[in-house]
Amino acid sequence: MTKSRRCMALLLLVGMAAPAVLAVTDGLLPNGRFSQGPDKSQMNGTVVTGKHAMPNWELSGFVEYIESGHKEADMLLAVPVGANAVRLGNDATIRQQLSVTRKAYYSITFVAARSCAQAEKLNVSVDPEFGVLPIQTVYTSTGWDSYSWAFKARRSTVTLSIHNTGIEEDPACGPLIIAVAIKALALPQRIKGNMLRNGDFELGPYIFPDTPWGVMVPPILEDVHSPLPGWMIMSHTKVVKYVDTPHHAVPHGAYAVELVAGRESALVQEVGTVEGWTYRLSFFVGDAGNGCTGSLAVEVYAAGASLRAAYESDGKGGSKPFKLQFTAVGNSTRVVFQSSNHHMKSDATLCGPVVDNVSLVGVRVPAPRRLRL
Ligand SMILES: *[C@@H]1O[C@H](CO)[C@@H](O)[C@H](O)[C@H]1NC(C)=O
Ligand SMILES: *[C@@H]1O[C@H](CO)[C@@H](O)[C@H](O)[C@H]1NC(C)=O
Ligand SMILES: *[C@@H]1O[C@H](CO)[C@@H](O)[C@H](O)[C@H]1NC(C)=O
Ligand SMILES: *[C@@H]1O[C@H](CO)[C@@H](O)[C@H](O)[C@H]1NC(C)=O
Repeated sequence: MTKSRRCMALLLLVGMAAPAVLAVTDGLLPNGRFSQGPDKSQMNGTVVTGKHAMPNWELSGFVEYIESGHKEADMLLAVPVGANAVRLGNDATIRQQLSVTRKAYYSITFVAARSCAQAEKLNVSVDPEFGVLPIQTVYTSTGWDSYSWAFKARRSTVTLSIHNTGIEEDPACGPLIIAVAIKALALPQRIKGNMLRNGDFELGPYIFPDTPWGVMVPPILEDVHSPLPGWMIMSHTKVVKYVDTPHHAVPHGAYAVELVAGRESALVQEVGTVEGWTYRLSFFVGDAGNGCTGSLAVEVYAAGASLRAAYESDGKGGSKPFKLQFTAVGNSTRVVFQSSNHHMKSDATLCGPVVDNVSLVGVRVPAPRRLRL
């Protein structure tokens, strides 16, 4: 903890020292933990009244600044010790200008918590792209969750906006944010022996070293950039969780995906196939070593084929390999992974099976042709 905090402090210093013309580096945004608070002369109680009151950020709407350990009467939880939060009330926005590499892809990770409204949502945008992220389900016992979103930079200077779309009776009601970071995303290369991109999930959003709870990847529609390159999350409001080795058991490499929302969300990749040809999908199912015990299972679908990959979890980490062979019925095939059930840890937070090291290969025998009589 002390070590990672020192590490973050160092990151912050580096961030501040960098001249504004240099492209952003992976990690916290300048004043990304809001440790440099607003000028007191531009505050009324906790409400920030000046648009430029806080270093590096531009504010509009009903924004509050809430210091470490403090809790407002209507808030569900206190701001953690050592952190400072901005609270985005009615129509509130925080913005920061970023120097980026044109045409490059970036993911944004931020740590947020719901305060008093039931269905809070944040619109995260970098013109012309945006994503509306539901901050509704709580996935950690602390109430603080990390969320991710991705964009493609159209210019070398872009503005990141985080906006509370809600209009509540109590104008202060809205999500709290304690940290915002960025990470450049490499384009997933197709590697030999795997038709899928980023099948090992090694490319993904930034994970704060001091957050042991992974990062939520929200539903992502087609044609929108994914913080998990190559993959789409299909759901109405539910997420999948991106987990890393310092904090979780991961079957292969340093990252994997935990399916935390049962059948309410699916991890999907679309891949070019040849109609009538046979393919083999290989993958690992396991547990993240986070106390998610019991009979876990992943439902896998591709073309007309499906498989229920069952895994008995003791919650201590482990995995099993599975294979699904299918015959393509079109020029493209969607491979779909879903947890067959909702599961809960002893702290009542959602959990589920982990999927990793997914690969797809063509099998060199076309399926037998149906005879025309
Ligand atoms: C501060 O907020 C209170 C309550 O909303 C309001 O009555 C007062 O006029 C505000 N003060 C200033 C200086 O804006
Ligand atoms: C989200 O914000 C962007 C940028 O301000 C805007 O163009 C878009 O319409 C907003 N979407 C929603 C659903 O509020
Ligand atoms: C598959 O691709 C071929 C050639 O591009 C095209 O003629 C055909 O209509 C496609 N079939 C489907 C089902 O999309
Ligand atoms: C990952 O999957 C590929 C293809 O199934 C396999 O060859 C490789 O051994 C796997 N890696 C590990 C560490 O299991």
